[in-house]
Amino acid sequence: MFSTARNVACRAATRSLASVQQQQRGFKCAVLGAAGGIGQPLSLLLKINPRVTALSCYDVAPFTPGVGVDLDHCTSNSDCVGYTGDNLKTALTGCDVVVIPAGVPRKPGMTRDDLFNINAGIVKNLVTGCADACPDACILIISNPVNSTVPIAREVLKAKGVYDPKKLMGVTTLDVCRARSFVAKAKGHDVNKVNVPVVGGHAGTTIVPLLSQAEPKVTFTDAERDALTHRIAFGGDEVVKAKDGAGSATLSMGYTGAHFADRVMAGLAGESGVVECMFVESSISEAPFFASRCTLGKGGVETVHDVGAISDYEKKLIADMMPDLVAQAEKGIKWAKENI
Ligand code: NAI
Repeated sequence: MFSTARNVACRAATRSLASVQQQQRGFKCAVLGAAGGIGQPLSLLLKINPRVTALSCYDVAPFTPGVGVDLDHCTSNSDCVGYTGDNLKTALTGCDVVVIPAGVPRKPGMTRDDLFNINAGIVKNLVTGCADACPDACILIISNPVNSTVPIAREVLKAKGVYDPKKLMGVTTLDVCRARSFVAKAKGHDVNKVNVPVVGGHAGTTIVPLLSQAEPKVTFTDAERDALTHRIAFGGDEVVKAKDGAGSATLSMGYTGAHFADRVMAGLAGESGVVECMFVESSISEAPFFASRCTLGKGGVETVHDVGAISDYEKKLIADMMPDLVAQAEKGIKWAKENI
């Protein structure tokens, strides 16, 4: 009797130790495009994230090993090494999480779709590297146009026979970050207590903030709602215009990319209740890829949530943009089929 009780206690203690060890498990991360405007602040924030025990910074820019040396001097749990040239495989070997902000950013007057031809090839090559060196890693795509580059990444991974829909995610966290900031400012709320899901895609009108689901509950006149919805969807243009030819959002994207990677690692570590909006393969709409709230877990995306109860206004926004969202995914898939 006593011995059985002791065995039960031992098993419980072992389980609890395993859970602590899992929670404390460190992760190897890579940033591809690490020397760029997004890549550098993103790499800095990952370097000081206690979940990260090794960080690889890869970029075609020849000074990237120097970025690695610079970051490695920061006091944190992780070792950081910068790689360039043909060292992609070394950078990626053993990675759990790969974040990709490589590519050209927008200039004033350009849409995210204008970046397609250059960034499609960059994403294809980098995701091929992931498939070869770290096929089990979660791959987080920042490079625009996300609505097309994520479908390209899927085709590359499928062609390599290593595609796992739970582990390929387009990063739309900046849209959520803008929605939270703008709503908090408009209503005088503490931004840390404001939440606003943003669904659809990551380009212009495909970005649909669900203000009807904002927490805490907020009310707007129709004119305020229209203006806020437009500002969130086109927040990137505000930055592109203000930087006047010097690029697009970098610091806010570095910040939100690092936040998103942290949440992915929290899920991998076994934390419960980790829910973020992201652009994933999805069956909740007509589009093959759709951004919505997803629960993250030990295997990546555990549940893709549907949009829930939304207003007629939001239903119309989604219906109106759907042909564009579908066409942008198809454009990526077509390009991939012709270029892989
Ligand atoms: P940037 O030009 O400052 O940096 C891009 C970096 O990618 C450069 O260091 C470049 O050398 C590197 N690169 C180019 N080809 C590469 C390759 N084959 N392998 C490795 N590295 C390569 O550009 P920035 O501002 O950092 O933007 C990067 C991308 O992120 C753009 O496509 C931009 O549109 C996108 N973006 C996405 C956002 C999102 O919410 N998902 C928000 C803001 C920007």
